[in-house]
Amino acid sequence: MGILFIPLIVLAVTSAVTSCPPSDRAALLSFKAALNEPYLGILDSWTGTDCCQNWYGVSCDQSTKRVADISLRGESEDPIFLKAGRTGFMTGSLSPSLCQLERLTTLVVADWKGITGEIPACVSSLPNLRILDVIGNKISGELPADIGRLSRLTVLNVADNLISGRIPPSIVNLQSLMHLDLSNNKLSGSIPADLGNLKMMSRALLSRNQLTGPIPCSLANIYRLADLDLSMNKISGSIPAQLGQMRVLSTLKLDSNQISGSIPASLLRNTGLSIVNLSRNNLEGFIPDVFCPKSYFTSLDLSFNNLKGSIPKSITAASYIGHMDMSHNHLCGPIPASAAFDHLEASSFMGNDCLCGMPLRTC
Ligand SMILES: *[C@@H]1O[C@H](CO)[C@@H](O)[C@H](O)[C@H]1NC(C)=O
Repeated sequence: MGILFIPLIVLAVTSAVTSCPPSDRAALLSFKAALNEPYLGILDSWTGTDCCQNWYGVSCDQSTKRVADISLRGESEDPIFLKAGRTGFMTGSLSPSLCQLERLTTLVVADWKGITGEIPACVSSLPNLRILDVIGNKISGELPADIGRLSRLTVLNVADNLISGRIPPSIVNLQSLMHLDLSNNKLSGSIPADLGNLKMMSRALLSRNQLTGPIPCSLANIYRLADLDLSMNKISGSIPAQLGQMRVLSTLKLDSNQISGSIPASLLRNTGLSIVNLSRNNLEGFIPDVFCPKSYFTSLDLSFNNLKGSIPKSITAASYIGHMDMSHNHLCGPIPASAAFDHLEASSFMGNDCLCGMPLRTC
């Protein structure tokens, strides 16, 4: 008797988690109710009792059957999109009901172009959230103030929305964050001074906002940071020389800000940097004469500043400079001749005080 009895209990327990719990299903249905996707009908698949089965973009933990991922991308290679011959469009808003999905690890509602409203503040209480990606909508309001509670968050991507207010100071507590993209919003105020606490971060993209204040020196402490884009803001102060010491940094975009002071020599000496854009700032002083055979720039744009003096002779030592722009400064003197950039055109040098030599007029 007892031998038969035990497997029966096991069976009963197992069958209890073979489909999605009614509470998760209910949360998804109210999430769905706040959205309107008129062209592809993908949310029409959200019917039936088991939300873990064939609900478009929903997936569950295999053992617990709790909803783990919501992944809805409006621009995708999915056959649904190819068949419809169009990208996605969705209106409505992100219902706070999704915060009842306690086991959620991934929330991607990306590139639907028409979703409005705010990011529900309660998302910061989802302890397992790893990916929060709502790029390419019309989401407004502020980022949740206590977003820093998301200790497992690796990706925070809210780019291409209408998010305003400040970058919440708590953001520096996102200890697992690897990819931060706040680009193209309406964020104002300064960048948190201790953003450099985010030791796992490899990409920090904050361009096209209205950020003011200085570039935090602490950013130089992020060993893994490969891509830093602060372009098209209202950032002022000078470029921290420490940025030149960063070993992994390869892309640095600071263009179209109000950055002043001179270009730190360490920056141009950093042979790991391959894309540098400092264009359209108030940089002054000389271009540091620190190029060397290991210098390899895919792109080096120093145009539209107040740089003076001559183009440093050492630049001829650089092994390669793909695109270089020194136009619209106050440079003077002969342009050094180098095979590394003999493909450059006059436009790379025009608008200076008295530069001469190829590709400009002879001296
Ligand atoms: C550098 O930034 C400026 C201003 O934001 C932009 O116009 C230019 O195209 C950028 N340069 C390169 C090489 O991308």
